[in-house]
Amino acid sequence: MTTPLARDLDRLRRVAEEGARPGRFAQRLHLMPPVGWLNDPNGLCQYHGAYHAFFQYAPFSADGSGVKMWGHSASRDLLSWDYLGVAVFPDQPFDVTGAYSGCALVEGDDMEVFYTGNVKLVDDGSHDYVTSGREANTVRATCADGVTLSRRHVVMRNADYPADDTEHVRDPKVWRRGDSYLMVQGARRTDDVGEVLVFSSPDLERWRLVNRVTTERPFGYMWECPDYLELADPARPGGVARLLSVSPQGLSGGDWDRRNVYQSGFFELAGDVASSCTLGDFALWDAGFDFYAPQTFLADDGRRILVGWMGVPDEEGYVNPTVADGWQHCLTLPREVTSEGGRVRQRPVRELRALRRGLREASGSLEAPLAGCCFDLEVDRPEGAGGRACVTIADELSVRWEDGTLSMRFSDPSRGSVGAGRTLRYEPLASLSGLRLVGDASSVEVFANDGGLCLSTRYYPRRYGVCVDAPGARVRLWDLAR
Ligand code: FRU
Repeated sequence: MTTPLARDLDRLRRVAEEGARPGRFAQRLHLMPPVGWLNDPNGLCQYHGAYHAFFQYAPFSADGSGVKMWGHSASRDLLSWDYLGVAVFPDQPFDVTGAYSGCALVEGDDMEVFYTGNVKLVDDGSHDYVTSGREANTVRATCADGVTLSRRHVVMRNADYPADDTEHVRDPKVWRRGDSYLMVQGARRTDDVGEVLVFSSPDLERWRLVNRVTTERPFGYMWECPDYLELADPARPGGVARLLSVSPQGLSGGDWDRRNVYQSGFFELAGDVASSCTLGDFALWDAGFDFYAPQTFLADDGRRILVGWMGVPDEEGYVNPTVADGWQHCLTLPREVTSEGGRVRQRPVRELRALRRGLREASGSLEAPLAGCCFDLEVDRPEGAGGRACVTIADELSVRWEDGTLSMRFSDPSRGSVGAGRTLRYEPLASLSGLRLVGDASSVEVFANDGGLCLSTRYYPRRYGVCVDAPGARVRLWDLAR
């Protein structure tokens, strides 16, 4: 019998023989896997000063089919990451088919880690792997040195979740509130409605279900990777914006049909997440081609920082050229999340400004080659500027604001092109005060109106260059280099 592990070992042997080369699309400023496949950010935290990012990792295959484990990287500036190795191997009976997504919480000198131990029982023909055949174990581990996770053990299992949930319960995110702790987990109910389970614990060990949160009307069949965050904002009732972030699956009809297959966004929450609350409208964190499963953490200096996976599961029609180089996917730039005047904003972390070099400035239009592949572009539109703005990158990707719409379009939709099969994403945007675009070797992240609307995409340029046509706008372009 070929077991998943044997398949992974085969692939590992192939990688060793052929050699994995990150190639020319290797990212300079984004966390990417040393080899193989990456998906969700996990366990984001700041521990003894350093930033830590774990991630869903399948090093033995770049196509995402391998058993998931936790890769681990650390950084001093959120932009250059050192890979520290695999932090969690799924080598226990409670996580043997995958150490799935989870979080880290720093408590004194310890990093407390929670993740989902995924167990898929052997296929004897009787399982649908939704209501049977699956264990979703909530696993706790402790890290006392910033590297080694020890004492992995199960704190909750299927029987601890509501009976009318399927066996799809996962992705714990934990935070402290006063003297106790709260945890959210994503879930799929047996009637195919996505929801968030809220648990409370006095000691991180014993957990009790205290609330179940969903929308008034069904909004997708499964909510993955939940997170809960509070942002100070005098413009909100009580001076606080309460957001429940989820990655819902199964949205369709209307505008959803022109967007990605799965989404990530947040609901404004009124009330108390741990007892009784209602959810307001859903807003996308990012409306580009490549964004899913974000997680946030609180930095020591008080910043709420969000990192997403710059990819989407089950994508069809895309062939990432990096697979030929033995790796696939990366994380987004870390973003500072704020609520200002009642509006949620995301901006690249301020550390990025220190890498700006060689300013070129113009009014209205600018065409410039780049020194390397990384750039930071600002297009500020004073009031009264013309009714459109267009930025063309690497000849084939245009980011355009016109007629109340912000769009991102690849001119050549073929798979061998710069967009590798991606075509068009757009969202309504009545007015545009400014655009910021940050480019890396194989990604572009767009922040419109001071991060009020974001669109991210991977891309695979033949030639790097930026061309701006935005009548009346102040245009500033920097190369980004260390
Ligand atoms: C989201 C997700 C999570 C799960 C992980 C497995 O992309 O499906 O729900 O924990 O990926 O890799």
